[in-house]
Amino acid sequence: MRVKGQDVKKIMVTGGAGFIGSNFIRHIHKHFPDIELVNYDKLTYAGNLENLAGIEGGYVFVQGDIQDADRVATAMAGVDVVVNFAAETHVDRSIHDPGDFILTDVYGVFVLLEAMKKNGQVKLFVHVSTDEVYGSIADGFFNENSPLNPSSPYAASKAGGDRLAYAYFKTFDLPVLIARPANNYGPYQYPEKLIPFFITRALQDQTLPLYGDGSNCRDWLYVEDTVRGILALVEKGEPGQAYNLGAGQECSNNDVTRQILRHLGKPESLIRAVADRKGHDFRYALDWGKMRGLGWQPQTGFTEGLSRTVEWYLGHRDWWRKLIEKQNFQSHLRKNYE
Ligand code: NAD
Ligand code: DAU
Repeated sequence: MRVKGQDVKKIMVTGGAGFIGSNFIRHIHKHFPDIELVNYDKLTYAGNLENLAGIEGGYVFVQGDIQDADRVATAMAGVDVVVNFAAETHVDRSIHDPGDFILTDVYGVFVLLEAMKKNGQVKLFVHVSTDEVYGSIADGFFNENSPLNPSSPYAASKAGGDRLAYAYFKTFDLPVLIARPANNYGPYQYPEKLIPFFITRALQDQTLPLYGDGSNCRDWLYVEDTVRGILALVEKGEPGQAYNLGAGQECSNNDVTRQILRHLGKPESLIRAVADRKGHDFRYALDWGKMRGLGWQPQTGFTEGLSRTVEWYLGHRDWWRKLIEKQNFQSHLRKNYE
């Protein structure tokens, strides 16, 4: 793998113990065994070193907060590329308690960018933003020049981090670029997000709380496609640019839920209509022509990806059961259906 015409020897992955970050590390470790990896992660409730079981050799884990400037600077020494996945990521939690979102998703990004400025040797910083920064769109698609109009405290914090990353390119001429992926799903996703939450609840014959009338729509991107997209950005992305990573796999929450139940052979009577999420975005949809220009396109259709995901959760019951047991102690997160 090359960046700016030079071989990439060392990548710092922040948030590598989470869902997309751990899939990214697994991919690099398998396909680019000569690249050294530093996984810098605070291990919040969403960080889980079991996601990286079996990753050995050329890999170092550093437990740390991206808000900790000294620790970040030490971990960044000798790094060619930084990929920042670290974030608070769950919209419902951001509605309940936004403080950590602002601290990690805005201030933490500032600390990383400052560390990069002082380090002076990092050749590329890929900041992982989200399609939620654009807000909801009833028809059509957002491109990278569409105005940002985030709805939730999560999305607003991500928009802050996204534009701060750009500011460090524009003001300090640092090689920073921004990825804006659509809704991801696949192995190792923490069972609070729609797909793993509903798979694991259905497997326990528990009800599936569908917000509002279930007609809200998301574009579902299989995590391996995101990982390949980020690698394309490392090799071919332009500093200062933002890139949408869409899937072209739009599906309403009603349809997603029914497909999960069909895969598992569970009855639709498990579905419960519950109160809507506050400020609930109706639809996300991206134009990803700019990524196509770099030779990237998603390869996994939703039917195929969902089937693989369901199989993974069926085969990894110990992994998610442990997380759910811990979750049950977090009473403030119990929702209005329990
Ligand atoms: P996740 O919640 O599964 O993992 C987040 C990781 O970041 C965890 O390992 C956690 O321990 C770590 N972390 C949190 N705060 C930290 C801090 N202060 N310092 C260091 N580490 C910290 O998240 P994910 O779903 O894998 O998302 C990864 C990134 O991709 C995030 O930036 C998210 O906003 C973005 N994104 C996610 C999706 C999606 O659908 N999952 C879609 C688009 C963009
Ligand atoms: O679009 C990218 C974003 O996708 C990422 O930036 C976020 O980190 C990620 O969490 C995700 O946000 P969403 O809010 O779209 O994902 P979530 O899985 O929380 O919800 C998907 C849809 O399902 C949404 O319309 C709300 C609905 N939902 C969700 C849950 C958890 C329900 O109806 N019931 C539920 O219990």
